[in-house]
Amino acid sequence: MKILILNGPNLNMLGTREPEIYGLDTLDKINTELIEFKNHQKLEAELDFFQTNHEGELIDKIQEAKENYDGIIINPAAYTHTSIAIADAIKAANIPTVEVHLSNIHSREDYRNISYCSKNCIAQIAGFSKNSYKLALLGLYEYLKYNE
Ligand code: DQA
Repeated sequence: MKILILNGPNLNMLGTREPEIYGLDTLDKINTELIEFKNHQKLEAELDFFQTNHEGELIDKIQEAKENYDGIIINPAAYTHTSIAIADAIKAANIPTVEVHLSNIHSREDYRNISYCSKNCIAQIAGFSKNSYKLALLGLYEYLKYNE
């Protein structure tokens, strides 16, 4: 099973970016912990990681994933709330996708309460800080193993 983990704009700044909201861990640390979690849980999955600040690059990766991956975990960051193009790409790729957020976007500013992407995802996990990625991986893994 191959899973692509996509991270959108400003998530390369984790560690120093608004640590009171997003925590003190860098994205590299979060990714490393996710691999450790996968091994500890004995999940038979191969993980690939990609971060970009550019909307079009996220769309390219989602389109390419259609051929090469069984599932996607995506934190579209601010594009969550603005990008119909990314939502459309997720729909077009038509592979199980889980949306994740470090923060609980539903308890923050009104403009963060909306997700264009979530309609085209099997689930959204928000508010568990870096553990949102672990829960997304567990949920997606079980989904792919037993629902496909
Ligand atoms: C975020 C929430 C978004 O509203 C914000 O723009 C981000 C990070 C999160 O992981 O909590 O960049 O996606």
